[in-house]
Amino acid sequence: MTEAQQPSALETLLHENRSFSPPPEFTAQANAGDPGIYAQADADYLQWWADWAGLLDWERKWDQVLDWSGAPYAKWFIGGRLNASVQCLDRHVAAGAGARVAYHWEGEPGDTRTLTYADMLAGVCRVANGLKSLGVGKGDRVTLYMPMVPELAMTVLACSRIGAIFSVVFAGFSATSLKDRIQDQDAKLVVCADATWRRGKILDLKAVVDEAVAACPTVDHVLVWRRGEGAHSVSPGLARDIEWSSVVDPQEPQCAPESMDAEDPLFILYTSGTTGKPKGILHTTGGYMTGALATTKLVFDLKEESDVYWCTADIGWITGHSYIVFGPMANGVTQVMYEGAPNHPGLDRFWELVAKYQVSIFYTAPTAIRAFMKWGDEHPARHDLSSLRLLGTVGEPINPEAWVWYLHHIGGGRCPIVDTWWQTETGGIMITPLPGITTTVPGSATLPFPGVSAALVNEAGDPIDGAGGGYLVLDRPWPHMLRGIWGDNARYEETYWSRFPGRYFPGDGAKRDEQGFLWILGRVDDVMNVSGHRLSTMEIESALVDHPAVAEAAVIGVPHELKGQAPVGFVILRGGFEASAELAMELRKHVGTLIGGLARPEQVHFTPELPKTRSGKIMRRLLRDVAEGKHIGDTTTLADPGVLDGLKKEYESREG
Ligand code: PRX
Repeated sequence: MTEAQQPSALETLLHENRSFSPPPEFTAQANAGDPGIYAQADADYLQWWADWAGLLDWERKWDQVLDWSGAPYAKWFIGGRLNASVQCLDRHVAAGAGARVAYHWEGEPGDTRTLTYADMLAGVCRVANGLKSLGVGKGDRVTLYMPMVPELAMTVLACSRIGAIFSVVFAGFSATSLKDRIQDQDAKLVVCADATWRRGKILDLKAVVDEAVAACPTVDHVLVWRRGEGAHSVSPGLARDIEWSSVVDPQEPQCAPESMDAEDPLFILYTSGTTGKPKGILHTTGGYMTGALATTKLVFDLKEESDVYWCTADIGWITGHSYIVFGPMANGVTQVMYEGAPNHPGLDRFWELVAKYQVSIFYTAPTAIRAFMKWGDEHPARHDLSSLRLLGTVGEPINPEAWVWYLHHIGGGRCPIVDTWWQTETGGIMITPLPGITTTVPGSATLPFPGVSAALVNEAGDPIDGAGGGYLVLDRPWPHMLRGIWGDNARYEETYWSRFPGRYFPGDGAKRDEQGFLWILGRVDDVMNVSGHRLSTMEIESALVDHPAVAEAAVIGVPHELKGQAPVGFVILRGGFEASAELAMELRKHVGTLIGGLARPEQVHFTPELPKTRSGKIMRRLLRDVAEGKHIGDTTTLADPGVLDGLKKEYESREG
């Protein structure tokens, strides 16, 4: 065989569906190298979590580890008192690590900043004092709308320092989405940046905030941090605007941390559910910090003195909360934070950064990996990636091709990959390999984290033991679990605890293979996963119906090469409106304006009818069959089976 005919290492691995054992030298140095850790945690899971909690700095130790008597409302570390920002800052500085770099920050245009742990502590204290001077105190809600700059992490930590409940809204969300979130939590203050850079352009964030806040009477002030770099000219100041430079910069760099109960709220983070209204997921202090500390330390095998860790998520999502702010900072590691797009100015920007900062641990999403694959192997190949020792993925199931590409082209064939399954609600990683222990298989998130218990059940809630597929449930409380939905206990109980009473239902289907590994199959509800982000079909439908031309709409997620899934809309027009390519484009834009670019449908199809049951319920399953060109499933419950023929024709003509 000539060299060209030899199957590549990638093909071999794929065809043999081979597993990847951690290299012995990795295991030898791993934070978790002994498989006995699982049995040890299971033997007494309360003790396991208490041991982790014991590594935090408590002002007062807890009296009881868990109170589950009020299920599904857990209380962890009852009676304990601590402050989350102290875990991330003061204790490292007190231990002599103040000069260690916390963030190597790089702006998209190439400007850089280096912030040590001591710098971060001083910055956080200044922001905390600034917030106090604006009348913000314990229990007040603060909404953050900021790009990936150190001031976002600082503001998050500053809120936690004074006991204010922060809520970060991803800065790609629209004014309407931002307004809804501010209103839902009755925020007193909004902290934003005037602008950020994205693919060489300035995005005017302040304009979005101005539009949102116009309809938010609870907001006393908008605190504006200036991004600089030519962004000064955007949106003029309004009466309630306060400049960061006048309120924060002059403050003292010391601020005594507020004493918080372990169960005091830390943050609210909104995520999509099956209805049009996003859910404000509530996390509290002691349990969340325990989970963040433990999972980061073991899953990413962090060595705070030598590692450079880079999670490419945005702090606007839960991944950024737990694995850019609280987990890595509680562990005292050095991180890379990058403001902009992965393909600006070149397709190798990430790899340039990995080489420049000698990144050793890299955590990203499968959708990004698929984009890297498409952009071409030559981009990572141009850079020295030998500093990497561990890779991670999160957000959606990873296809084995992408996993194997990641292993070879980024990980040099030597870095273990941790495929981590979790959710906004779980607060931290729940199902994952441990990189020094687990022999991984591409596409499987493998096993529950030590101390976590997951099961598969059938429709009736009966456990499925051994190999098989079913609904994933978590059947034991964990410290970093959500404590509810802000202002809506009924929805909390209904969404997560009613389908399989006593067990937490995340909304995902999964299968277990012969060796006991779990494979997450995706959502089983009306939620789709677009580029690793959760979107509700109902929310997009409401946005379409909001347009004057639309009488009715149905939205489904269809498989997409890069995004994993993409939203596709089916729309019935009101009388007097004509279907056209221009109108389809306008409707797509309308969704983008109402929710955010992420939610913009890939396609909009016009149809005179939608497939409905006799009781009027839209059968999205049949729309999915049409979109995927599948044999149309059972249509016996359909009010008018003829509807599907028309839909199929419309779909196929637009596809072609
Ligand atoms: O469907 C699962 C998918 O993402 C959902 C959680 O979305 P979100 O709360 O936005 O959090 C994303 C980042 C933690 C889950 O219900 N998901 C997340 N990670 C994985 C995954 N699906 C498969 N494999 C994963 N590793």
